[in-house]
Amino acid sequence: MIVREILVTSALPYANGYIHLGHLVEYIQTDIWARAMKAQGHQVTYVCADDAHGTAIMLKAEANGITPEEQIASVKASHEADFAKFLINFDNYHSTHSEENKHFSELIYRRLNGAGHISTKDVEQLFDPEKQLFLADRFVKGTCPECGALDQYGDNCEVCGTTYDATDLKDPYSTLSDATPVLKTSKHYFFDLPEFEQFLKDWTRSDNRLQTSVANKLQEWFDAGLTSWDISRDAPYFGFQIPDTPSDEPDKYFYVWLDAPVGYMASFKNLCDKRAGTENELDFDRYWMQENEHKTEVYHFIGKDIVYFHALFWPAMLAGSEFRTPTGVFAHGFLMVNGEKMSKSRGTFIKAETYAEHLHPEYLRYYFASKLSDKVEDINLDLEDFMQKVNSDLVGKVVNIASRSAGFIVKKYDGMLSDVCVESELLEDITKTGDAIAAAYENREFSRAMRLIMQCADKANEYIDEKKPWSLAKQEGTEQEVQDVCSVAINIFRQLMVYLAPVLPELTANAKEFLNIDDLSFASRNQWLLGHKINKFKPLMQRIEEKDVAAMVEASKESLAQNATPVANADNISAKKNTPSAKEADTDTNAEQADYIGIEDFAKVEMKVAHVLECNHVEGADKLLQFTLNVGEDQPRNVFSGIRKFYEPEQLVDKKVICVTNLAPRKMKFGVSEGMVLSTGDPKTGLTVVTLPDDCVVGDVLA
Ligand code: MSP
Ligand code: ZN
Repeated sequence: MIVREILVTSALPYANGYIHLGHLVEYIQTDIWARAMKAQGHQVTYVCADDAHGTAIMLKAEANGITPEEQIASVKASHEADFAKFLINFDNYHSTHSEENKHFSELIYRRLNGAGHISTKDVEQLFDPEKQLFLADRFVKGTCPECGALDQYGDNCEVCGTTYDATDLKDPYSTLSDATPVLKTSKHYFFDLPEFEQFLKDWTRSDNRLQTSVANKLQEWFDAGLTSWDISRDAPYFGFQIPDTPSDEPDKYFYVWLDAPVGYMASFKNLCDKRAGTENELDFDRYWMQENEHKTEVYHFIGKDIVYFHALFWPAMLAGSEFRTPTGVFAHGFLMVNGEKMSKSRGTFIKAETYAEHLHPEYLRYYFASKLSDKVEDINLDLEDFMQKVNSDLVGKVVNIASRSAGFIVKKYDGMLSDVCVESELLEDITKTGDAIAAAYENREFSRAMRLIMQCADKANEYIDEKKPWSLAKQEGTEQEVQDVCSVAINIFRQLMVYLAPVLPELTANAKEFLNIDDLSFASRNQWLLGHKINKFKPLMQRIEEKDVAAMVEASKESLAQNATPVANADNISAKKNTPSAKEADTDTNAEQADYIGIEDFAKVEMKVAHVLECNHVEGADKLLQFTLNVGEDQPRNVFSGIRKFYEPEQLVDKKVICVTNLAPRKMKFGVSEGMVLSTGDPKTGLTVVTLPDDCVVGDVLA
């Protein structure tokens, strides 16, 4: 077997807030993957760090009356404590505010500058004369220039949806001091991203580096045109000073997103130094030098909101400074709770810490595993389903196998398993399924892996149900058979522990003790436990109680009411605003206002004036009408609508209606529906199709 050398990372959490269940999707996903690859015999190093720089952190420290250094130290300690509770097994957890990070950020910058990839430009920006700092859009409010709404942010109006520059606001004021901002010009440093366009296009499409949907998104960005990236910020800023700037000019700092991904390298370097001279020594150059690109692998796990930084800026920065680029960047979707965005008022905005006070972290690890795939889709934590699934799969199926068979072995046979396996076909089948499970882990198809594992557990339980060791044991002359049956069950249980070890490290470690084995690697399962002595069985997992889930939700309402709202992360928002990813950006700040959708969510819905060319009954569908709509495109659209009970088709022909045109096409029994016709009312009692005046122009977008 070839031992692969793999470096894996999760995105670096901001040092201005706590870890919540949304974050944990990512850390649990990465941790399971890293553990599964280690269990398959590879040499895997998993590093992470706190993302410690930026205006938000500086302001948060100020609000707390402490220095930024104190602020980031205390948050780092709390992050590490949370991660430990959820069994996230980092090989190293560092900080972007570190010597290593300063070194590599400067090195990369100098190389980029030396190669002519950095330029400067004057930028005019609002400035708070009291606080003496430049204001990111989120820190300016004023009157909307378009509709006159008061108290609108510097990037767009939440009332009328207009986007504008902060400098267009009427009566602007700084949200930090209430002072009236003044316009001030300063020199900014830019990284020339457009120069890397061809490199990035090739990089994106080669070697399966990115998920298809991510590669497609990048194509949209290429089509829209890449622009230079503003990598500097003016003092006061908590970050690293940009080196080699003219000494008679004010200090400039690296924008937080420049040094953040460098934090991956820095954390790894820090680990290399710690391990130097030990048997686990790691060679930094082997992982990061361009010429070693094919000797080792580097993977970044990230959320879908930060693709722009990881799939464009970061590889371009690395290539431009002669470092190797990542082997793969894997994006995941966002966490929903009970089918909706996490909500403080509903108690579904749950801190990692609050969860851990009420429920065992392995429940969540298993549930996320059962939901995660290699896709960028959002995942839903349905609390009812969570309880049911964990109780029925882990307690009801898996642990049950051991608890039903271990007692007999320990009491009647002094813990000894049979010398032979009487069901080698069954055991072979389950041993072999391990190959598919290993592959599913590697391909990040965790939900598939969990399904395969539960199928194995079902087979074991069917076998036990059929043999009924408990009634066998009451009969005469069945000594051997009872031991054999229970030994088969224990052996299958052992295989399941191997398969579940990446997801349930604690439960499986306890099982290891009970099984009296010292290895849970994937290969170990080929060695069946014959004539092997096991230890007394102790309960491995309790059922989830409904009251604990309820208490967690209740405590989440309280704990958040007591806490001041974290400072909005201005850096993230302003970074995203100027990029095509802005529309998709789903920052924590948005999630905080979870009961609302942002204007950017609303803006995603495309509605157009449509002309009804045809409207017909649908054979065999008593609820549907079929529309042929002209929405101003080359081809008319086919749309089904559930309004047959309320209309005769001819009533609608030739009308102007509203069609949602960017709804994903839906395949129905009667054909594909390519949009939605808007109506009002109740589908049970009566719907009225919304019609528009005849003079509306077909294909116009409604706003
Ligand atoms: N500091 C940046 C990352 C820098 S990486 C060089 C950042 N931090 S974050 O704290 O906002 O998010 C950390 C990771 O958690 C990101 O990958 C983000 O996508 C993920 N998640 C944050 N909230 C999430 C959900 N609600 N759901 C799923 N993942 C989420 O971005
Ligand atoms: Zn407005």
